[in-house]
Parts: sequence; C-alpha cells; structure tokens
Amino acid sequence: MTTTMAQDWRAHARRLADDLERAGKLTDPRWRDAIRAVPRHHLVPSYHRQNADGSWWRISSGTAEGLAEVYSNTVLITALADGPTGTTVLSSSTQPSLMTRMLEALDVRAGMRVLEIGTGTGYNAALLAHRLGDEHVFSVDVEPELVELARQRLAVLGHHPTLVAGDGAAGLPEHAPFDRIIATCAVPRVPWTWVEQVPPGGVILTDLKPALGAGSLVRLTRIDSDRAEGHFDPTYAAFLDLRQQPGGNPAAGRVDRDHHHAEHRITAVDPRTPWTSLVVWFLASFGLGPGISYGYAGCSPDGPRSTWIATPDGSWAEISLVADDGQHQVTEGGPRRLWSIVEDAHRRWRDWGEPAWGRFGLTVTSDGSHTVWLDEPGHTVAVLAR
Ligand SMILES: C[S@@+](CC[C@H](N)C(=O)[O-])C[C@H]1O[C@@H](n2cnc3c(N)ncnc32)[C@H](O)[C@@H]1O
Repeated sequence: MTTTMAQDWRAHARRLADDLERAGKLTDPRWRDAIRAVPRHHLVPSYHRQNADGSWWRISSGTAEGLAEVYSNTVLITALADGPTGTTVLSSSTQPSLMTRMLEALDVRAGMRVLEIGTGTGYNAALLAHRLGDEHVFSVDVEPELVELARQRLAVLGHHPTLVAGDGAAGLPEHAPFDRIIATCAVPRVPWTWVEQVPPGGVILTDLKPALGAGSLVRLTRIDSDRAEGHFDPTYAAFLDLRQQPGGNPAAGRVDRDHHHAEHRITAVDPRTPWTSLVVWFLASFGLGPGISYGYAGCSPDGPRSTWIATPDGSWAEISLVADDGQHQVTEGGPRRLWSIVEDAHRRWRDWGEPAWGRFGLTVTSDGSHTVWLDEPGHTVAVLAR
C-alpha cells in the first residue's frame, strides 16, 4: 500500500460513515466516530471474492479497488476452508450497515462489559473497544488462527481487548458477568449459559436460526432467574452458523428424490415464497423440523426449473417454478408432505396480516424451551421444544 493510499483510508472511512448515516443505519454520533476512527483495511488486509464458476480469488485491501470496497457497505469473505464437499466460508467481516444496526440495538453505555461471540477479523471488537475501552470488551472465536491474527492486528492499533479461542456457545464464564452479549454468528438455539452470564436487565443480541436460512436477529433481555424475552429486530440478518469446532460444519445428509414413488398435485403458493418471504420460511421450519436442506433442480438455459426441500427422515418436495394459471406442480415423497407444512405457514402468516420480523418475539426459559410469539408474549405461534 502506498503512503498516499494508507492516508486515504480516513477519507474512505468518513465516507462510509456518511453513507451509513444517509441510509439510516447509523444514528448515534459515538458509533459514527468509531466507524471513522477504526481502519477496517488494517483488520481486513485481504478478502476473497467468488467467480461465477464457484472458484475464489483473493483481493488485497492495499489496491485502490480493494480500499474502496473495504470502506463500502459490503460483507467481505475473509477465511475459507477446503473440505470433502468443496470450499466453505469460515469467516467474514459483516456488512457495516448490519454491524452499526446491531451495535446501536445493543444500547451500550460507558462502563458496560460486552462479550462478542465470533471475533472474526476483530473489526467489530475494535469498534467496541474504541467506544467502551479495551478492558470492557471480550471476544471469542472457535478458530484459533483468526483469534491470533485479530490479536496481533488489534495490538498494532493499540487495542488489547480480551480475546479467547474456544466455542462461544459456552460464553466466557471466567469473565462473566457481562452487561451485553452480541453474537455475530447464527445459533440454532440461544444457549442458556449466555443468559446466565448477564444479570437481570442484561441484553443478548443474536441471529437465531433453528433451521437452514430460517430465522433472524433477536434481542433478548434477561427478565429473571429463568426467563429471557424480547422482540426480533426489524432488520433481517443472516450470519454464518456457529460451529462446534474449528473447520467446516458437517454437510447435511443427502435425500434421494425418487420420482417413481411420489405423489403429484398443484399448489397456489409460489415456491419462491420460502426464500423471498423469510418470515414464512421461519414459521414453516418449526413444522419441518431440524436438518432441512433445500436447493434448485432441473437446470435449463433459462435457469432452474424447480426448487426442492428435504428433511433427514427422507421426506422431500419438489415444486416447479413455472406456474400454469397461478398453479405450480408439486411432487412429494417420503413419510411427510413437506410442502403442506410450508402452505400452512403461508396461510397463517397471511391471516395475521403478513407481519414482518419486528412483530415477532421470543421467550427463552431455563428448561431450554424457545417460544415464538406475535406482538406479545402469550400469543404463541411456534415452540421449539427442549
Ligand atoms: C461473521 S463472522 C464474525 C465477524 C466479526 N465479528 C468481525 O467483526 O470480523 C462469524 C465468526 O463466528 C465464528 N464462529 C463460528 N462458530 C463459533 C463458535 N462456536 N464460537 C465462537 N465463534 C464462532 C467464525 O469462526 C467466524 O469468525
């Protein structure tokens, strides 16, 4: 990086803060100061971009193009792993507008102690340290090399927050209590141990995804010794899944779609619904159960001809993307009729007036149960049993 370019980053960082403000994603002047002051390019010296054929190439943040992109409102893929099923993403620097949205929703005040789950590049930890002071910031990542790199890069900036390599699902009991816990990876359930590590009134902000792609950002307040409760954030979020150990998560088991022993019918629910209406997909996921997989099938020059969903019990549904008079062909096999579950979720959501994320809430109790409600606790719409 040339000296001029290195000096340029301040102008870029100011522009990023201005862009986020204009987009309504940054309103607190103290977080604006943090975005202007922390050099994202130093914590993300390079990142990966994917080609249309699926291969990856690396871009240096030291080039003019790299520097401009690092200070744009873009998620940057920062760590990859090669595994039996191909290359998977291990870490990324979150889209800045989502970061500022989350930091503001966290509602921190001077003197508060914050635990971050998912150190990644250390950029979010640096923003927190800038605002709260190193001694109030704790961050954990399951990838030891990432933690070490973040530690070295933060130290060059003069920041020394407490960084730990380990499974963040356990929180950091040795440093608890915290006033706030922010998770920058998605969890299938909110670990009760996180709730135990904040006092009553303490806040946990995390992406809850009980199934693949199904869920969003939820902000829980610890109410008492056995309950945490709060609304989903109006902003949709999709983070990388929490992993129990370093490296990729195991790939989902394959379900064969045997069209010879299948049932055929038609549906008026557009098969794009789960993907374009993420609330419906979230509601449907409770009925579909864990281990959902989905994808596209029947590639043609005009794109895929159908979508499919499958569950580990061998159930599957394939739905044509092309509609005939508003009706799509459905082919289903295995013990359960999966598309009926999606249709039912769609029907309920429509009956409630098509609510967005912000109208839903979650109660987590010490026995591990998660109850999703609409507008207020009591109006239960889905339950994740223990
Ligand atoms: C979106 S990245 C985090 C971005 C980060 N906050 C930043 O500012 O660069 C998600 C991170 O979660 C980490 N992660 C995944 N499973 C984890 C676990 N069990 N405990 C802690 N971190 C985990 C990944 O290694 C990855 O670095």
